[in-house]
Amino acid sequence: MNGSRAHPKQNPKTPGDTPPEAPENPVVNRLKRRIKTDGAVSVAEFMATALGDQDGGYYTTRDPFGASGDFTTSPEISQVFGELIGLWCANTWQSMGSPSDFALIELGPGRGTLMADALRALRHVPACRNAASLHLVETSPVLRDIQQNILRGENVTWHSDLPDLGRTPVIFIANEFLDALPVQQYIKLEGRWCERVVAFDDVHDRFCFAVNPVRQLPARDITHQLVAAEEGSIFEHAPMVQGVVAAISHQLFRNGGAGLIIDYGHTRHSTGQTLQAIRRHRPVDPLETPGDSDLTAYVNFQLVGETATAAKTKVWGPVDQGVFLQKIGIVERANTLFKHANFAQIHDIRTAITRLISPAEMGTLFKVMAITDDRISHLAGFETDS
Ligand SMILES: C[S@@+](CC[C@H](N)C(=O)[O-])C[C@H]1O[C@@H](n2cnc3c(N)ncnc32)[C@H](O)[C@@H]1O
Repeated sequence: MNGSRAHPKQNPKTPGDTPPEAPENPVVNRLKRRIKTDGAVSVAEFMATALGDQDGGYYTTRDPFGASGDFTTSPEISQVFGELIGLWCANTWQSMGSPSDFALIELGPGRGTLMADALRALRHVPACRNAASLHLVETSPVLRDIQQNILRGENVTWHSDLPDLGRTPVIFIANEFLDALPVQQYIKLEGRWCERVVAFDDVHDRFCFAVNPVRQLPARDITHQLVAAEEGSIFEHAPMVQGVVAAISHQLFRNGGAGLIIDYGHTRHSTGQTLQAIRRHRPVDPLETPGDSDLTAYVNFQLVGETATAAKTKVWGPVDQGVFLQKIGIVERANTLFKHANFAQIHDIRTAITRLISPAEMGTLFKVMAITDDRISHLAGFETDS
């Protein structure tokens, strides 16, 4: 079975378990040179270079999805995922008062599969489909080409950054996007939160973690929980996540609309290192093959919620992905597909849906949170059971 990007139960190897691979990727030399010239880099810079470097960055240079790639995401597991998100958008558009124009913006659309499946479902709600202008936020040229192909015939605008479309109401979708944004790490040493950085070990010819005692976590970010944390604890600070969520929230407050965030992560502030790497469906040492493995960190949903609330928007959830998908009709949709499926297809649909909703697979590790302007009073998938 192809692996998803979150691997909570398997421990990535630690530096030193295996000899590093030959530094073929230009990212390796770029990082080595940078460290030699300016000293150890932040974990955030290491992550940003490994994923987004123009010449050798992981996302810049490849299609990482599927059996022949490194991992599989929900839209790639079943068309039902994107179709249900499409219908969720239609339902949300109605809750927004059915505006005659709105922007449907997907962040980090991968192969474009979710958007293609969502648009197919939206054909059944033509008023909503006709009101939507389509926007994809994507930095990878390789993935943009694939998105252009799967969405040919559709009128799509691509952006490298979150667009600001004036006063247009908006629906944002971000599936497994926030986890790809770089995080900084801090480690508690002698009561102080010092930055954990990435250095280069010339003797063993590999990247390694180090500590920069001079760069410390700003006092405003030291919560009571961090004051009480044990010596040696690691804290992941995610200012880029905060920046994106704040920008989304400001637009929702000003223009009206909703944002749907689906990702793996923690529902509460917590300490601990979650930086992880995956390559060919297996966890690997996050420092071993920069540019050739996917690097992610768990999303802190409490931080996302607090950032959105500070921007005067309303926060829904987080709820478990399994619960959300069942509330928006995954079982009913599967039953409809069964009617036209043969025995083998029924088996495949069942396997895919189990993978998406089962607590043993993606059902509870993945969370769903929505952010809306405060006029929205009903949102599918977030109803409380009574
Ligand atoms: C793990 S993939 C998720 C793909 C897709 N949402 C899915 O579920 O299949 C992360 C996506 O975010 C894009 N990405 C990563 N960092 C980005 C950034 N800083 N700005 C825009 N897109 C980014 C990647 O190129 C890729 O399309």
